[in-house]
Amino acid sequence: MTGNTIFKDFSARLADDFRRGTMVAHHALPEMEMFSDAALERLIESHPDELSMVYAMPTDAVGETGFREGDLRGVRGRDVIEAVRNGQLWVQLLRLNKAHPEFAALEKRIIREMKAQIPELRIFGCRLSLLISSPSIHVSYHADIPRNALWQIRGGKRVYVYPVESPYISEEALEGVYLGETQEAIPYRPEFDDGATVVDLRPGMMVTWPINGPHRIVNDDELSVSMVMEYFQPVAWYRYGVYYSNAILRRRFGRTPHSTATRGPLMWAKLLSAVAFKLAGVQKRYRHTRYLTFRIDPGSQTGYAEIPRTVRDF
Ligand SMILES: [Fe+2]
Repeated sequence: MTGNTIFKDFSARLADDFRRGTMVAHHALPEMEMFSDAALERLIESHPDELSMVYAMPTDAVGETGFREGDLRGVRGRDVIEAVRNGQLWVQLLRLNKAHPEFAALEKRIIREMKAQIPELRIFGCRLSLLISSPSIHVSYHADIPRNALWQIRGGKRVYVYPVESPYISEEALEGVYLGETQEAIPYRPEFDDGATVVDLRPGMMVTWPINGPHRIVNDDELSVSMVMEYFQPVAWYRYGVYYSNAILRRRFGRTPHSTATRGPLMWAKLLSAVAFKLAGVQKRYRHTRYLTFRIDPGSQTGYAEIPRTVRDF
């Protein structure tokens, strides 16, 4: 790959798409050695336990948010992939670029190529993670705090991206996302699909959408491997402060916030109070305790076996 670029078709037209919000591009990740089957198996085995997650997801009922967490410690990478291929599971390896030098280098290359086309772009807090998910699985309707880019490596999935406005997402729902009280789930109605941008991702395609954009994902009928890139731009950090503070005002002090401005003195006051509340640990009571209820079992039809419910303490 030396001398080649990660993006295959990054043009001025795509840069304009990015500025408007949603951009679809083509990339070389599936052809790179670091994404070969053997490399992915090694990655699963070498990734830190505290950054490795597996979830059992609902397979139907669009909009359903119920899922539970399991344990994949000590399972061979090949067995993890086979369990996901045959089951209804969702594996996440978080912060690849923190744990592995080759992913730190990949992050740098990606951002350099994006800046070459979008000179005003400022990216910070970039996190790369790997998502391995079962055939036909759904990721239900939700919104994330950072901006997202989804890089498809194996299999396909249909991505629905919705406008960041009412009725797709209310101010209060967005606050819930920032507060971490809802696991990023927000109310969904099937008629929202009329306003969605729909992207059919195949290996070698990526899509990025506006910050806080509600989205849901339906896998094709095959194993899916994707890299998720989460990143902040300056406006994302302002929004974090504003929505986080508004959420505290509404929930803790019973007040109805009226401004979501991301400029001006009120925004700065809210940003500072958000940091103060975070330091004071006020948000802790809104967070969920995490439990493990199964472990990966490649011999099982579902890909997992039940275990007694235990608090995740790693
Ligand atoms: Fe997401």
